[in-house]
Amino acid sequence: MFKCAILGCRGRARSHAKAYQDITVGKLASICDMNKERLHEFGDMFDIDQRYTDIHEMLEKEKPDLLHIVTAPVLRGTMQFIRYPLMNIASEHRVPAVIIEKPIAVMGEDWRQIRDLADRTETKFAVNTQLHFHPKNLELKRDVTEGKIGEIKLIEASSRNPPVDQAPHTLQLVSSYIDNSQPVKVMGQVSGSNQLNSDQPSPDNATARIEYANGIQASVAFGPEMAIRVLSETSNNRHKRVCVFGTKGFVHWRFESWEKFTNEYGYQSGDLSYGEENAVAQIGLTEAMFDWLEDRNKVHPTNLKQSLAEFNLLLGIYQSGLIRQPIDLPFDPPDNFIQHMKDIL
Ligand SMILES: NC(=O)c1ccc[n+]([C@@H]2O[C@H](COP(=O)([O-])OP(=O)(O)OC[C@H]3O[C@@H](n4cnc5c(N)ncnc54)[C@H](O)[C@@H]3O)[C@@H](O)[C@H]2O)c1
Repeated sequence: MFKCAILGCRGRARSHAKAYQDITVGKLASICDMNKERLHEFGDMFDIDQRYTDIHEMLEKEKPDLLHIVTAPVLRGTMQFIRYPLMNIASEHRVPAVIIEKPIAVMGEDWRQIRDLADRTETKFAVNTQLHFHPKNLELKRDVTEGKIGEIKLIEASSRNPPVDQAPHTLQLVSSYIDNSQPVKVMGQVSGSNQLNSDQPSPDNATARIEYANGIQASVAFGPEMAIRVLSETSNNRHKRVCVFGTKGFVHWRFESWEKFTNEYGYQSGDLSYGEENAVAQIGLTEAMFDWLEDRNKVHPTNLKQSLAEFNLLLGIYQSGLIRQPIDLPFDPPDNFIQHMKDIL
């Protein structure tokens, strides 16, 4: 039985913890939050007795096989970037596996630190982009893999939250339909500075045309002024979608619905419950981490190196928009991106 722990007991951590109610090979044994009230409320809710306010103490005493780092990249109310320091602590304590929430970074400086960590660490990291494991997405991916829409011609994907918040999900979804083929070139545009002072600094909107190593092209749009709505009268976070067009048909996954045209059955469509699919996906993402721990060849599909490539692509969209030229990927992002965008946007 794998021993598991959570760092960060605010809202999002509940989904991570709930998954353990259906996981048989791992047990959530300890939790940590520097906010005592939150720590005990969470501990009581999930019946976890081993509670810590200090991450070093928890890792030393509990020695978890898997640590979930469930924090935002910036400590709320401060401008303290905490992704790299927390991942580095886990790596130095030799935690075998870590699941960390998206977005993996916010800008060039933290992306580079985490890229360097990925090159030297022995810890297996995966990023919590769980849409990869939504059952309907897995089903539509099987259709694509089995050639039911012919050869992929174009992927089109969008989400209406600020790019840094949901582009990680959206770009991962694109990757998941093309077996994590690497992005090699991007032409991007960015606009709007309202979100640049937020806890997750980002331009308000971004669009791009992307070329991948396998020759497939994708067109993406992020933010409320560029991405289309998939539901009426609802908040911006509920408009994630990806559409894969092939020579003989298409598959289209949306927040609460899907549609496809295949050679075999023609046009089909239906509704889905995002909440239910998300709960199953969280279990799948966590179990894939145990599979990787048991077999080094079963690399997690949302592993850190893949996620860093997707975030480098997002930074490439920013940079391409700022210098108004296409960018070859991967590229070395400049320092002071956020300030640079504040000056220009
Ligand atoms: N995958 C998804 O679908 C999805 C959905 C919602 C949110 N998210 C992501 O989840 C992340 C976290 O969200 P949140 O709002 O729950 O977290 P948050 O950052 O608001 O809270 C983090 C918690 O961790 C604690 N903490 C931070 N550093 C600590 C340290 N060094 N030691 C001890 N405790 C520490 C804080 O006290 C706080 O309680 C965000 O990045 C968000 O984008 C993902």
